[in-house]
Amino acid sequence: MLGAQWGDEGKGKIVDLLADRMDYVVRFAGGNNAGHTVVCGDDEFKLHIIPSGILYPHITSVIGNGVVVNPRVLLEEMDGLRARGISTDKLRISCNAHLVMPYHLAFDRLGEVSLGSAKLGTTHRGIGPAYADKADRLGLRVQDLLDEKIFRTKVGTALERKNAILSKAFGQEVFDVDAIVEEHMEYAARLADHIEDTSLLVWRALEEGGRVLLEGAQGTLLDLDHGTYPFVTSSSPTIGGAFTGTGVGPGRVKAIIGVAKAYVTRVGYGPFPTEQENEVGEAMGARGVEFGTTTGRKRRCGWLDVVLLRYAARVNGLTGLALTKLDVLSTLPVLKVCVGYSYQGRIYHDFPPHQTIFHKCEPEYLEFPGWSEDITGAKTREELPPAAARYVEFIEKAAGVPVEIISVGPKRSQTVWDGRDLEPPPASEGPYLYREEFEPPCTA
Ligand code: GDP
Ligand code: IMO
Ligand code: MG
Repeated sequence: MLGAQWGDEGKGKIVDLLADRMDYVVRFAGGNNAGHTVVCGDDEFKLHIIPSGILYPHITSVIGNGVVVNPRVLLEEMDGLRARGISTDKLRISCNAHLVMPYHLAFDRLGEVSLGSAKLGTTHRGIGPAYADKADRLGLRVQDLLDEKIFRTKVGTALERKNAILSKAFGQEVFDVDAIVEEHMEYAARLADHIEDTSLLVWRALEEGGRVLLEGAQGTLLDLDHGTYPFVTSSSPTIGGAFTGTGVGPGRVKAIIGVAKAYVTRVGYGPFPTEQENEVGEAMGARGVEFGTTTGRKRRCGWLDVVLLRYAARVNGLTGLALTKLDVLSTLPVLKVCVGYSYQGRIYHDFPPHQTIFHKCEPEYLEFPGWSEDITGAKTREELPPAAARYVEFIEKAAGVPVEIISVGPKRSQTVWDGRDLEPPPASEGPYLYREEFEPPCTA
């Protein structure tokens, strides 16, 4: 399960829904730049680094090797959950996941300052610098916490470079090896029992017939390779990241669910062709409460873009879509959907090959009649107003992927579980296997 847009698609809710039928939920990418919201009865949980399956006692929640872990934030999140009566005893953390170190946070901030008006609008959680050190082979891994001597040596090596840059290039205070080691050995003592080879753990679970859900963070358009570079995050939130970020092989996959909002939002800077900096965008933001789960920033809002959705379907090989926040569009008299980009007399129906086109294009829209009814109580497609049902039908046709779940509110119960039989797509059993195997959860 992964994000099909620019993040915040409602992945937390969908993972929580599907987790009911799972044994394992494994986060595969990103770090605490993510903010996944799960609403459970009257309780709301905002998870940044712990998988969204943690609310179910039967689930083993796994932080995969592709995640970057800030151990201080992780422990705070574990403490916060325990204080609300949620056990974290079964949380497992990959020994190979990289650590977000205090100096990564400093470099994230400094990087943004030095970019000036070209800044990305990162979450300032140290994510880019942590993945950069991983690629540079200067990173520290979770397993390094288990050996103070190794940890000290590696921190020392990293700080030789980091401190030189901090002091000489930026005139900033330097970091102290002893202080970092002391702080992290306290974290190590608390995390040690949770650390293991999670690739092996998940493989064993699969061999025994266990059900595993791989939970994406961020979204396809924030992908380092496939997103709107450089306005992206530094990991692979797309399907490849699900495999490298967990150590699970692709042959094991039964379904690939993309989560997409019924409109589009984006936090941070970068191109966004269908953005509505007007009363429509304001209405979407207000009704959808579009404020960042992690940073509290106001999210930019705009019309649904099926060029991007088709792109997400292609690069991820999606077998199904979970369409969220359809309720937010209620009362808008007319809905627009972008079906192409116009640039210098040419229409692009696929994601354009050059960033300038994407930056400067004019969206080509189709218009759909809206609906005024409250749809938050709908349980089947038949219970949706005909205009809403037609809108969904158009989306699945345009994206070329069946919509299998429609979310009409933040609660578990506010969900339409595919109210009609779709014809199986040729040569693919994926989504249908998935549909047969899962019943809607009965928890409200
Ligand atoms: P994530 O990062 O993809 O997990 O998404 P976020 O949690 O950052 O943002 C999604 C927000 O929308 C959260 O506040 C959810 O509670 C909320 N939400 C999810 N699905 C729906 C829905 O169908 N309708 C409405 N109104 N809100 C939803
Ligand atoms: P979830 O998992 C939305 C965005 C940031 C910024 C860019 C780079 O909740 O969907 P980073 O701190 O990662 O270096 O910032 O990526 N971004 C997200 N936007 N949802 C997220 O996560 C995001 N994680 C990162 O706003 O534009
Ligand atoms: Mg989020």
